[in-house]
Amino acid sequence: MAVLSVADVYAQNITIPIETADNAMVLQVDQQKDIKNIYLGKRLGNAAEYEQIPAVYKQAGDYTGLVNSAYTPSGSRNLFEPAITVTHADGNQSLDLRYISHQLTKLNDDVALLSVLLKDPVYDLEVTLYYKSYYNENVIEQWSSITHHEKGDVVLQKFASANLYLKAGSFWLKQYHGDWAKEMQPEETQLTHGIKTLDTKLGTRAGLFMPSVFMVSLDRPAGEDEGSVLYGALEWSGNFKIDLELDNQDNLRIIAGINNYASPYVLKSGVEFQTPPFVYTFSDQGKGGASRKLQSWARAYKLLDGKGTRLTLLNNWESTYFDFNESRLSELLKDTKKLGVDMFLLDDGWFANKYPRNDDHAGLGDWQENRKKLPNGIGWLAKEAQNDGVKFGIWIEPEMVNPKSGLYEKHPDWVIKQPKRDEYYFRNQLVLDLSNPRVQDFVYHVVDSLFIKDPALAYIKWDCNAVIYNAYSVHQNHNQSQFYVEYIRGLYKVLERVRAKYPSVPMMLCSGGGGRVDYGALQYFTEFWPSDNTDPIERIYIQWEYSYFYPAIASSNHVTDWGKQPVKFRTDVAMMGKLGFDIVVSKLSPDDLAFCRGAITTYNALKPVIWQGDQYRLSNPREQSVASIMYIDPAKSSGAIFNYLVNYRYGEGSKFPIHLKGLDPAKKYQLKEVNLYPGTHSSIDNHKIYSGDFLMKIGFNPDVKAGRTSVVVQINEVK
Ligand code: DGJ
Repeated sequence: MAVLSVADVYAQNITIPIETADNAMVLQVDQQKDIKNIYLGKRLGNAAEYEQIPAVYKQAGDYTGLVNSAYTPSGSRNLFEPAITVTHADGNQSLDLRYISHQLTKLNDDVALLSVLLKDPVYDLEVTLYYKSYYNENVIEQWSSITHHEKGDVVLQKFASANLYLKAGSFWLKQYHGDWAKEMQPEETQLTHGIKTLDTKLGTRAGLFMPSVFMVSLDRPAGEDEGSVLYGALEWSGNFKIDLELDNQDNLRIIAGINNYASPYVLKSGVEFQTPPFVYTFSDQGKGGASRKLQSWARAYKLLDGKGTRLTLLNNWESTYFDFNESRLSELLKDTKKLGVDMFLLDDGWFANKYPRNDDHAGLGDWQENRKKLPNGIGWLAKEAQNDGVKFGIWIEPEMVNPKSGLYEKHPDWVIKQPKRDEYYFRNQLVLDLSNPRVQDFVYHVVDSLFIKDPALAYIKWDCNAVIYNAYSVHQNHNQSQFYVEYIRGLYKVLERVRAKYPSVPMMLCSGGGGRVDYGALQYFTEFWPSDNTDPIERIYIQWEYSYFYPAIASSNHVTDWGKQPVKFRTDVAMMGKLGFDIVVSKLSPDDLAFCRGAITTYNALKPVIWQGDQYRLSNPREQSVASIMYIDPAKSSGAIFNYLVNYRYGEGSKFPIHLKGLDPAKKYQLKEVNLYPGTHSSIDNHKIYSGDFLMKIGFNPDVKAGRTSVVVQINEVK
């Protein structure tokens, strides 16, 4: 055998860089046709130099030859957490995946799709890895597709979407946990050797305790504006599993995908199994840089109507709960107009007759108007709304059923429950079996029938309050282990049908709060409900954390009576997203009402920059007494800065100026306090002119303190 020089070895490798404006993700195929991750980070000036990257690392040896595999197979040479594990038709559990070919397709000026075909040399099984890269946004979506032509079924025991591999001196994971009213609680720790798993097994409302979003900083926890950090999230609304394995070489393997918990998947010969995309971005300019990348990608490509507009609204959930009738709703429609928002949103409680929906114990599943509450039906209410000059939207929770309902009695086989065990409830309800096409039809028709009743229906709030206990599907029969996957596929099929017929009607993704916020679902929804916790102090923290991953236009924020803050504070916080109200308008004092009306006008002026501008986090409520967030338009000429007191100890406030960000140092700016409460005056001199340079280096003081606990400032370029 001829001895190969180092140069020969490189010559035989195939290096495949995926470059975006700032970053590169680089794959390399070696002589054995193993495909490896060799780099993920800032792009190099000369793409020809990527192939030299592996040689400059002098870490421990690789016992497997595929420690940095681009899609780690198991049962052959691998010794680490695999991306894929299968049982072949003959019962053998080994898999090896070798590179066959790759293809790069430019989909447009911004988006390219790389596909890499891998095959097992022994078994007739192939995997295609897909990398969809968004050049300007610096985002990659990665997924895989698995097929085989074996004589019999192959069982997929594990089937990840993505397998990344990072090198750094240390790795710092920022992850989230939560519960009802406590969504998006962050924790940041250094990863130690072994595997750290982020996962959920809840089935629906799957992110209740843990969403799939996370960030990994390299070498030290990234700051807001400095440091290297990778953001990741799985585009899947069901069980997910993300393994972060620090290996013997001190490198980090990240394997993300659908959770294989209770889910071995039987794959027939010739059938394709496609995994959901794992989306990620990298920034060497801190967490702020990464979040702006992800936000702009979401607006441009993922969130439904991300570049569009949204409706302000009055919701009746907290003002009436289940207790309303036509005359009460007529008053609320008038209040909607009086308040000055675009739409009235009718919440839970409007349906069911045999077991009326007067509390959360009954009626769910029976989507006919309750004759006592709405004798003239939805159509009448929608007409009333039209007469009052407001739009009309409605709440549904179509995936769920109360045992006390006509639907449960008629179709017990549509309900997820164990045939031989006691039922166990979450909010007194059970989940319908969306893996069953007949249930998919039913859910689709729940939505469709609303549009038949009100063709002008302007909005749907799609709730999902229960998790899955006793996972068992009558429809799946002998394929129970496919149920969790097929449930979510069924949900997406319904949403596809809804969107095929109603492509642009705004829909809120709600899950008794934020239990289901993910980009798998958000491609069908215009916005999400971050939390039932609308205490504005809590919301500052919750919205702050969501904002790392989701743009403000997607965040439905309602002004309610939660918390002790005045209505101005509550409204200012709700303005950092998509503004709504859920208060008793008729009980507002004249000043509060005047303030709210004025705030809606102010909001209408600011919303383009809040929704489409670049977001900068200026002052972190977890570190300072004042929280401050800024939105600035891409031209760097107009924006808004929201500032809140979060520490109520004596004398606390904005003692130091707050450094603004994202401005043009050469431009001149004027800052003006807006959204003032009637009868109050601003302490800010709005005639002063500052350079962008001054505002970014020295800063601006919004004068937040006791008595001025919430300050909204508009910034405009002066020409
Ligand atoms: C949970 C939601 O988060 C609330 O806003 C409300 O719609 C209730 N469900 C209704 O049951």
